[in-house]
Amino acid sequence: RINSIPMAPPDKILGLTEQFNADKNDNKTNLTVGIYKDNWGQVTTMPSVARAQAMLDQSFEMNTDLSYLPIKGCPDFRENVLRFLYRESCPQGVELLNQERISFVQTLSGTGALAVASKFLSLFMSHTVWFPNPSWPNHANVFQINGFKNINHYTYYKDGQLDVDGWISDLEKAAKSTNDSFPPCIVLHACCHNPTGLDPTLEQWKRIMDKIHELKMIPIIDMAYQGLDTGDVYKDAYLLRLSLDESRYQWSNGLFLCQSFAKNMGLYGERVGSLSVVTSRGAEEKRSVDSQLKKIVRGMYSSPPGYGSRVANIVLSNPHLKNLWFQDVENIAKRLQSVKAKMAERLNWDSLQDPTRQHGMFLYTGLNASEVNTLREDSSIYLVQDGRLSLSGLNDSNIDYVCDALRKLEK
Ligand code: LMR
Repeated sequence: RINSIPMAPPDKILGLTEQFNADKNDNKTNLTVGIYKDNWGQVTTMPSVARAQAMLDQSFEMNTDLSYLPIKGCPDFRENVLRFLYRESCPQGVELLNQERISFVQTLSGTGALAVASKFLSLFMSHTVWFPNPSWPNHANVFQINGFKNINHYTYYKDGQLDVDGWISDLEKAAKSTNDSFPPCIVLHACCHNPTGLDPTLEQWKRIMDKIHELKMIPIIDMAYQGLDTGDVYKDAYLLRLSLDESRYQWSNGLFLCQSFAKNMGLYGERVGSLSVVTSRGAEEKRSVDSQLKKIVRGMYSSPPGYGSRVANIVLSNPHLKNLWFQDVENIAKRLQSVKAKMAERLNWDSLQDPTRQHGMFLYTGLNASEVNTLREDSSIYLVQDGRLSLSGLNDSNIDYVCDALRKLEK
């Protein structure tokens, strides 16, 4: 009955922005959500993206086509994203494209890709999923809403360090204790692990992927921050390159890539991303997967929005804008590094987790929930409750204020 519906908890990340907006303190500082802001606290459009928008606006003046996109998304976007992911970011993907083994749908950013993937998997292949502990809080929500019954977390992080031995041993123990005939899924953060910023080295990834392969788990790679680690979008696709090395791995139940242009093109609200499913055999398997993904998309939201994918498509297909985009991404990565360096000048890092090993948009401070509450209640500084701080929310005007408040917690 409608009068017995329980209250859902507020979203662990976006819920805080609602609280922030209601805060009357002039010094309030929002360091929660992963939205890139420049040194003036603005969410600016990247120069490459702004030029693509201008080109698109011009073409709209001549011929405004606001009709529906196909269910699977804009065909040009699809071609360009496939090229970007499976030729440029991961050259051995060419072979997979030639063999027609990659099923692809344009999605509502990375979350939409995860939603379609989890729906597909729960309908046909699996009901168990493993996430790192900790992980992006919405991961479990997305999979649960889309039909997954068993939500598990593998050890990822211990005493400020990545714990690869603990991770592998959790997977082994789970495999021994289950008699489930469906393969379990495992979600892997491609780079810039959210929230810890700690990524395995390539050698560690090899150990991990070997184990995942041996245990016949289904890999789901969540690539939301491509480029924000090293500043080079191609370099950051190392996990995809390793996973698709067919001399090492054959994924008999496929590999799922959930990819987003929210962060690396700043197209957050336009919801631009993709899901690709790398099938194990040729075109026939792909056609069946294609047909089911289309059915799911049609049932969920019919077809994706057009504008953002048209913009991304121009950036990816125009060589000049693409080079400009590489520069934009590099500038973002550099600023994130410089914010960390400025914090290091002001703080005793020993009291925080070692941030020099952390990658990407966030600083995992190691502050506990009560310290996070103190920052919010005493200084109107908002961090995610797990102690994650969004670095680009800091700038020359607020960094001293925030570091002073952090120093007070050190005492
Ligand atoms: C984040 O972790 O802050 C981002 O991925 C934004 C979101 O949707 O939570």
